[in-house]
Amino acid sequence: MGDYSDGASTLSGAPDIDWDARAAVFDDEPDHGLRDPEVRRAWAARLRSWLPERPGDLLDLGCGTGSLSLLASGQGHRVTGVDLSPAMLRQARAKLAGRDAVFLTGDAAAPPVGGQRFDAVLVRHVLWALPDSARALRHWRELLRPGGRLVLVEGVWGTVAPVGIPAGRLTALLAPVAGQVRVERLSDDPALWGREVADERYAVVATPG
Ligand SMILES: C[S@@+](CC[C@H](N)C(=O)[O-])C[C@H]1O[C@@H](n2cnc3c(N)ncnc32)[C@H](O)[C@@H]1O
Repeated sequence: MGDYSDGASTLSGAPDIDWDARAAVFDDEPDHGLRDPEVRRAWAARLRSWLPERPGDLLDLGCGTGSLSLLASGQGHRVTGVDLSPAMLRQARAKLAGRDAVFLTGDAAAPPVGGQRFDAVLVRHVLWALPDSARALRHWRELLRPGGRLVLVEGVWGTVAPVGIPAGRLTALLAPVAGQVRVERLSDDPALWGREVADERYAVVATPG
């Protein structure tokens, strides 16, 4: 995850970030582009452990350039990606060309998927950027098929002007939404980030009761 301290927001409130402007260099961060085979393998292994074992329908919200969508597709899942940024989506569509995947322009908080339901909703590094995270979580639960799950990858980045959402706050927000919540700490695995990191990074797998 890069430096978003210029996004003019800290632990509360949605940042004002021009994602289109960032799209061209977004994949330069090791955990964004997953170009290093070791980093890619590390994310692929985590993703496999978080997603349903059986290939299914996956909704990747705020999919960005589609790096996780591509891994999930490689694991057999049918991907629907949603992002607000046309420049990010152009890259995602190019990355997954020829695969069973569709990419839609829209708001992650209210994705334009009509009545479609999913086996998993995957959201990495996006919830922190939404103005009303509690409302988004409630809506995402409604997009799940019975037995489906939310896979949320978040953190708190930076030390001077930290941005993000701490795990404690996210699990509290999930309490009314999910029956089972598993938090996995990701800060201590440098293979995921291409370097050692000291800030809080984690994944949550939440299954509505
Ligand atoms: C930090 S990037 C993460 C991208 C991708 N999930 C990943 O992990 O590589 C945040 C992404 O969320 C998108 N985004 C931010 N707010 C959004 C919103 N309200 N609806 C849809 N996408 C949004 C941005 O355009 C950007 O692609």
